[in-house]
Amino acid sequence: MKKSDPIAAAIGRVLSGAKEGRRSLRSLSEALSISDQDVCEGLETLSEQGFDIRKTPEGIELHSPPEYDLAPSYVASLLPEDVFGDAIIHTYDTLPSTQDTAKELGRNGNRLVVVFAEEQTKGKGRRGRRWLSCRGCGLFFSVLFKPPLPACKLQLVNLAAALAVKDAVSALYSVELSVKWPNDLLYKGGKVCGILSEASIGARDILDCRTGIGINIVPPDPVADEGAVLFNANHIGEAANAPVHRGRLAAEILARYFRLLDQAASDGGQTLLYSYRASCSTLGRDVSVITDEGTVTGKAVGIGEDGELLLETEGGEMAFNAVDVVHATPS
Ligand code: BTN
Repeated sequence: MKKSDPIAAAIGRVLSGAKEGRRSLRSLSEALSISDQDVCEGLETLSEQGFDIRKTPEGIELHSPPEYDLAPSYVASLLPEDVFGDAIIHTYDTLPSTQDTAKELGRNGNRLVVVFAEEQTKGKGRRGRRWLSCRGCGLFFSVLFKPPLPACKLQLVNLAAALAVKDAVSALYSVELSVKWPNDLLYKGGKVCGILSEASIGARDILDCRTGIGINIVPPDPVADEGAVLFNANHIGEAANAPVHRGRLAAEILARYFRLLDQAASDGGQTLLYSYRASCSTLGRDVSVITDEGTVTGKAVGIGEDGELLLETEGGEMAFNAVDVVHATPS
């Protein structure tokens, strides 16, 4: 496991934004209000995590970021400092589930943690399902944080995450995904991204939340991945207009996710709901809603103020949370 160091990430951020990628030792320590010794240690951490940093008579130069796209201090340096300055990014080779590791790290007192894994051996999906997470096939990560929302607005966390993924994939790779309520992302009708939010709730507040995001980038190799097949799935790799850099994609998603939630905290979710309704391909469709008690069919006519799905059924309008939806026609 490798983890980010906030000072190294801050230096990475400054060097990436520096004119000609170069700063003097003194200007780095002044810009970050830290000692020269701290700067030197931070530079060492960056070098260990694959940054090509050279000391020249003109200053400290950043030649290139790490080749490894989930190098933790690199991902940290891509995140906005005002929100993620204290975040610790952990990158593991293999884990049962990034959700569980994020939870453990949270128990140890960390309030903002991001956990990546190259592969998951027990990837968790919604409603107790498994999430196939083969090495080399996708982006698998969880973020543990305290959403700035009251407990009654928990569903908005799911909607914000879906919008953040949709907008990030569009901005970075020009791939337009559709959102199936509440937070499945589809490409040409096949699922490319699943999102699972698990939260601890207090009397009024959300105490903490672990949002796990899995994005299919390339299909599993049926030979190397021992017959792994994803049904009704798709992947974004071929459609993307550039090679997918998982660290940049995750940073873009996280930055957008937290911005959407902050906005929801200040306007009661109005802007988020407006954008979500405009992006949600479930609205207006005939759908089946699969609940623990059975299946209900009807027409999806709205998304309520707390993010619930409103269904027009033979027996009148019904509202649903935390259920699965199947579109009657392909998205
Ligand atoms: C779903 O659509 O059922 C949700 C899938 C969520 C998968 C992600 S991958 C990263 C994180 N770790 C897990 O074990 N699950 C989530």
